[in-house]
Amino acid sequence: MAILSIFYSVAFLPHLLPIDPYSKFTQVNLPPGSIGPESVALDRFNQGPYVGVLDGTILKYKGPNIGFVFLAYTSRNRTRELCDVTTDPNLGPICGWPFGFSFNVVTGFLYVVDVFLGLSKVGTEGGNATLIANSAGGVPFQFLNGVDVDQFTGDVYFTDASQTIDIRNITSGNYVPDSTGRLLKYSPITGEVKVLAGGFSLPGGPVISVDRKFVLFAEFSNRRIMKYWLTGNKANTVEVLLYLPGNPIKIKKAPEPGEFWVAVDIIAQQPSSVTPLGYKFNSTGGILLIKEFEGQYNNIRVNVVQEYIGGKLYIGSREAKFVGIYSKW
Ligand SMILES: *[C@@H]1O[C@H](CO)[C@@H](O)[C@H](O)[C@H]1NC(C)=O
Ligand SMILES: *[C@@H]1O[C@H](CO)[C@@H](O)[C@H](O)[C@H]1NC(C)=O
Ligand SMILES: *[C@@H]1O[C@H](CO)[C@@H](O)[C@H](O)[C@H]1NC(C)=O
Ligand SMILES: *[C@@H]1O[C@H](CO)[C@@H](O)[C@H](O)[C@H]1NC(C)=O
Repeated sequence: MAILSIFYSVAFLPHLLPIDPYSKFTQVNLPPGSIGPESVALDRFNQGPYVGVLDGTILKYKGPNIGFVFLAYTSRNRTRELCDVTTDPNLGPICGWPFGFSFNVVTGFLYVVDVFLGLSKVGTEGGNATLIANSAGGVPFQFLNGVDVDQFTGDVYFTDASQTIDIRNITSGNYVPDSTGRLLKYSPITGEVKVLAGGFSLPGGPVISVDRKFVLFAEFSNRRIMKYWLTGNKANTVEVLLYLPGNPIKIKKAPEPGEFWVAVDIIAQQPSSVTPLGYKFNSTGGILLIKEFEGQYNNIRVNVVQEYIGGKLYIGSREAKFVGIYSKW
């Protein structure tokens, strides 16, 4: 893997891809004790970022003077005494861990996948999240990790990475990848949760294309991006879009129609190291840019790269104590 990554940066980068324009870095620190902003998003008024952190809290950033304020919890069981700023992974099923975000820009609802508790939504005023579903097709969710709203219909696409592995296995490294992950869809009109496709190896980070013809998702273990067709003669089938040199996590739409970002971590075992990257790519699998995060995220995994208008990249990471923002000047 190390050889492949050197090959990539030395042999390919300078010739094929533009110079990295996202060169300015700022960081927004989480409140003391908070860690792991796995999910990061701005709302429809470009306010935020909103983050979900390891102790089960969803926070909203209100600028440098106010900082982060409480927005919501995903768990109804949670007590502040037990859960606030906890880093004990075994409290996760009680305290919750908001793991993926997507706003419905029409209603303002924030859809949240909690890695332990299920799919829920938070209203614009915050408060407790409303649980929508914690199983599909009779199978309980085990490892929800990514979500995206179809802004035209309000349908919600999300992924359950596995039926046997949960996030604690990933954190401890104690797992054998399986192929029981599922791509799911919730319709707010019918209230139905549907299994679109299954049999994937740690799928994550689904995203619906702007033209609404397909959904992309990442297969973490197989190091590839998959395309699930929604329309046309390939409707309801899955094909490989792109192979990557590391493990892809969440995919998000870039501001340019037909373009996407995926967080990719090249994970080496001996010696143990992580090289965090962002790949910008298009709907036919062309790689447009590779962004290196190592300078600011040394040996830390990145989990989501989200670009907003004006060319600002918001970085979510399971291990950081801050939200990183890269901008073009
Ligand atoms: C919100 O959840 C907390 C626990 O997380 C609970 O104590 C409280 O009663 C809930 N509030 C409402 C209005 O349901
Ligand atoms: C509340 O926590 C208990 C474990 O203490 C768990 O069994 C139960 O599923 C939780 N309920 C909810 C609604 O999160
Ligand atoms: C996940 O971890 C638990 C506890 O460490 C272990 O018992 C279980 O076998 C692991 N699951 C898989 C699929 O590796
Ligand atoms: C995707 O990017 C590749 C490489 O830049 C390019 O050749 C291809 O035409 C692009 N596809 C679309 C649909 O823009």
